[in-house]
Amino acid sequence: MIAMRALIFSFLCMIGCAKQPPRELNLIPQPVQILDQLGSYEFSFSDIIVFDRSLGGAARLLKEYTGRSLLSNHSSADFIKGVQIKQNPSLNTEEYILSIDIKGVLIEASTVDGAYRAVQTLRLLLPEDFEVKQNQNKSAYLPFIRIQDAPEFDYRGMHLDVSRHFFSVEFIKKYIDLMAMLKFNVFHWHLTDDQGWRIQIDGFPKLNSIGSFRDETLIGHYNDQPKKFDGEKYGGYYSKQNIRDIVAFAEARGVEVIPEIDIPGHSSAILASYPEYGCANYKDKVATSWGVFGAILCPKIETFKFLEAVFDEIIPLFPSQYIHIGGDEAVKTRWQNCSHCQSLIKTYALQDEAGLQAYFIKKVASIVARKGKTIVGWDEILEGGLIDEATIMSWRGVDGGIAAAKAGMNAIMTPTSHCYFDYYQSENTSEPLAIGGFLPLKKVYSFNPILDGLTNAEQGCILGGQANVWTEYISTPDAVEYMAFPRMIALSEVLWTTVNQRDFKNFANRLERFKKRLDVLNVNYANHSYEIIGRFENGSNMRRYELSTLIDDKTIRFTTDGSTPGPQSKKYIEAIPVNQNTTIKAVVIENDKTISEVFEQNIFTHLGFGKIINIAPDPHPTYNTGGEVALLNGIIGSNNRFGDSEWLGFWGDDVSIQIDLGKETDISTLSTRFFNTNGQWIYAPKYIRVTCDDDKPIVMEIKGDDSIVNVDVTIDKKTRFLKIEVVGFGIIPDQLQGGGHPAWTFIDELILQ
Ligand code: ACM
Ligand code: ZN
Repeated sequence: MIAMRALIFSFLCMIGCAKQPPRELNLIPQPVQILDQLGSYEFSFSDIIVFDRSLGGAARLLKEYTGRSLLSNHSSADFIKGVQIKQNPSLNTEEYILSIDIKGVLIEASTVDGAYRAVQTLRLLLPEDFEVKQNQNKSAYLPFIRIQDAPEFDYRGMHLDVSRHFFSVEFIKKYIDLMAMLKFNVFHWHLTDDQGWRIQIDGFPKLNSIGSFRDETLIGHYNDQPKKFDGEKYGGYYSKQNIRDIVAFAEARGVEVIPEIDIPGHSSAILASYPEYGCANYKDKVATSWGVFGAILCPKIETFKFLEAVFDEIIPLFPSQYIHIGGDEAVKTRWQNCSHCQSLIKTYALQDEAGLQAYFIKKVASIVARKGKTIVGWDEILEGGLIDEATIMSWRGVDGGIAAAKAGMNAIMTPTSHCYFDYYQSENTSEPLAIGGFLPLKKVYSFNPILDGLTNAEQGCILGGQANVWTEYISTPDAVEYMAFPRMIALSEVLWTTVNQRDFKNFANRLERFKKRLDVLNVNYANHSYEIIGRFENGSNMRRYELSTLIDDKTIRFTTDGSTPGPQSKKYIEAIPVNQNTTIKAVVIENDKTISEVFEQNIFTHLGFGKIINIAPDPHPTYNTGGEVALLNGIIGSNNRFGDSEWLGFWGDDVSIQIDLGKETDISTLSTRFFNTNGQWIYAPKYIRVTCDDDKPIVMEIKGDDSIVNVDVTIDKKTRFLKIEVVGFGIIPDQLQGGGHPAWTFIDELILQ
């Protein structure tokens, strides 16, 4: 058998492989089934592409990626050498078969979408330099292979906010092409928000002359005090011709464009242009800062007429079945004070303002439905009642999506914990300013839109997932690319493959090779591959500290005396013992050169270090990376990344922490820190109560407005047990971001001295 294969191989080589192609297939997302065979096909410049008429779109796209000529009116008899794109009705919508053998390339699909996905796989099998037109006029060697492939999820989306910052048509096309390369099939275009309306509307020209421009823009972070502004007018909008151009470009790649018109909140730009659609007597301007504002549309007849006219202009531009109508973070204070709003609540026996929001959304849903489309809305649209025909985009965790699925509604999962690409991706302090949070590549890769506990039918309601790129702190195309890449590459595999097929190490190694293509495509990706990851052995053995890198086979060298490590420092072979206060510094060395940033970890072996801790209730699953031990592991949390493995997050619950020091110990102080970035719904607690053994509790009120609030409690006692009760902030007041929802509490290391 082996001899037979060798014989066939040498025969194939005689005709096929003048040169051996590289056999590492840098395919992301990983196809479901690959049969990699020996030999390769020479794809020469004179090769042609023949295709079945219904799959012509894919043929034209392949022409763009390869420079090869198309032969329309194909009949098999015309085919000599090159690529055939053939209809195979037995395959599912996005399924395809890509076969490469001695005769050339055969793509089979039942729909043009399937053929588009196959073309992207073929694109990734071609050398990277084919991404540049001038390099396409030469031969390429394609491996003999058979790939049969189909996505796990029907909805694989990427979002982009063009209101907070505005991006050119050229960049939007680049973004969509990169999405298509990774087999995403939906571009969610967030076109309107408080900071700017970005789509031409002829019937209401002030939406553009006023609503598309703001006077100036906040500099620095929203939490910085005092606030500073740049004093420069900022704005722009897409003409209808721009929109048609982009939609056609996306369609030519099998990418659907879903526009979002965010109402009834996030409407400062609308109300700055047309205050008559708000509740009486408010004056809004196009927002110049970030956060959530009080501007909200008033649900009156004229407002719905206005919205209908706007949708009449928007809907013909977008072939998608869906119109996203936002619905998130609508602050309802104005509704509480508006006589019209209150009379509607009475007339329709609505429970409250949440009921009025449901009334509003249902009205909009029926306007959109009359025009043959369905709405998508953020998970807030579930509050105040279900809307059968809507699709829910679950962002405040996955609960909204689960509730929707349980009610038989469709849902798309886009939780902040795994899908917010405006969060930090590295703990390195040199990262560009971001909104906050912490979402490293590995966490994106661990995302699973389908959760345990759903029936098959309910699982069927989860259409897929999406990552969101909110652009408050992302003002240039380079910055979008930095935040989106490589995280969207990880997400592409999450949404295409099954859980069983995923393997992070394997992905990371493929990603490493994939970067060559990103370089050729001029993508400004974040490169944290060589970053060193540190953790205690098994996550909890605080006597030994381990170092690793994302990519295998890299040499780490380290120091423990505070000096900067280099090629001469000690080579890392096994976990580093920790018996006292230690500063571990480490770097990755290749060819006698440091190729990584310096990793630095201080471990503070205070009196509570490594002792027994119990926390009730458990931290929220999304902010429990380090587990309970994180509060006594001698490591302080990041100053701006509450999602790291050192902070523990609790949503709305008071927290009770028990520490057992093992023996009576003299304690002078307990120090800790609480995160306090209110724009992200995170508040320092009201007070904490500390009890030593059976003593009287020490109660300490928590005060401070900084983004991290430090707390020092004087103990001055010998004690073995400590109980620390943390009484959270409670419900966020209505007029603030997250109003009406429980505040988060984030707790850092509990330092005992
Ligand atoms: C959102 O992030 N406000 C949907
Ligand atoms: Zn009103």
